Amino acid sequence: MVSFHQGVAAVLSDLKGKDFLSSSDFSSEQITALIELSIQLKKGERRIDLGNRVLGLIFSKASTRTRVSFQVAMARLGGQTVDLNPQISQVGRGEPLEDTARVLSRFCDVLAIRTYEQQELADYASWSSIPVINALTDLEHPCQALADFLTLQESFGDLKGQTLSYIGDGNNVANSLMICGALLGVNIKIASPRGYEPIPAIVDHARSLALKGSSIEVMNEPWEAVKGAQALYTDVWASMGQEQEQVKREEAFKGFCLDSGFLKEADKDAIVLHCLPAHRGEEISEELMESSSSRIFDQSENRLHVQQALLASVLGGL
Ligand code: CP
Ligand code: NVA
Repeated sequence: MVSFHQGVAAVLSDLKGKDFLSSSDFSSEQITALIELSIQLKKGERRIDLGNRVLGLIFSKASTRTRVSFQVAMARLGGQTVDLNPQISQVGRGEPLEDTARVLSRFCDVLAIRTYEQQELADYASWSSIPVINALTDLEHPCQALADFLTLQESFGDLKGQTLSYIGDGNNVANSLMICGALLGVNIKIASPRGYEPIPAIVDHARSLALKGSSIEVMNEPWEAVKGAQALYTDVWASMGQEQEQVKREEAFKGFCLDSGFLKEADKDAIVLHCLPAHRGEEISEELMESSSSRIFDQSENRLHVQQALLASVLGGL
């Protein structure tokens, strides 16, 4: 008889050599299995030794959690990380991506890339002969979404039929939440000010992937979105690269600060999530961040566990 652990490993064996550029690159079954493996790793029920494999990081934007969680995940898997900061490598001096990708494919076993354009990430993937992971682009943050749904599962035991309401900018984090949530059967409600909703093509894409019975809704009224939700989520109003829009956005997002007033309208056991870094008093109140409903630091820790599961899977270490 096939054990539960063997079943998870069998599903994940198909991810060997695969890129993870978007939450929709993996199936519902594969994402569910990744979350299961993350739980096993977190509880210490599974140990995986990849034997000296090397992860290359190319981060063109700042990062604390993603950078460190990838480094620690790789160390725990018995591997190493090379940080190819564009400021100290030839990447920042304009060496063609096609050359960088082919050279790094000879040295490393997997790449995690944080950049602006999703197309640049796709170009890296097409020129690399090793798996490429999206460590955040302007369009998506799929590793974050894996950690977010692991956190929801830890709180409620099951994901299907739960509702996650995201209050704020229709950005990379919102996009990956919609797509990943759809694949996991979670109802997603996004409330953004007019003009800051997620891109309609991404909303349609998420809806096309939604498991039977789950829905993706976009609205402009945060009070409507939070009603009865099991998770309330927010992110910064101005993402990296949008710093010059900060003042304009503060005006546009008035009334969208996630606070205890919104929490009162949610499910009585609702949890509060934020991908971090947070601007207290802007998109989230200090009180809510520090409240007993906050799972924000568990969510942050979970980046480590899901990325360990992801690296082990794409490197074929199961
Ligand atoms: N949530 C997240 O990706 O954080 P960093 O920007 O610190 O990596
Ligand atoms: N939306 C934010 C997420 C940071 C983790 C940004 O892109 O800056």
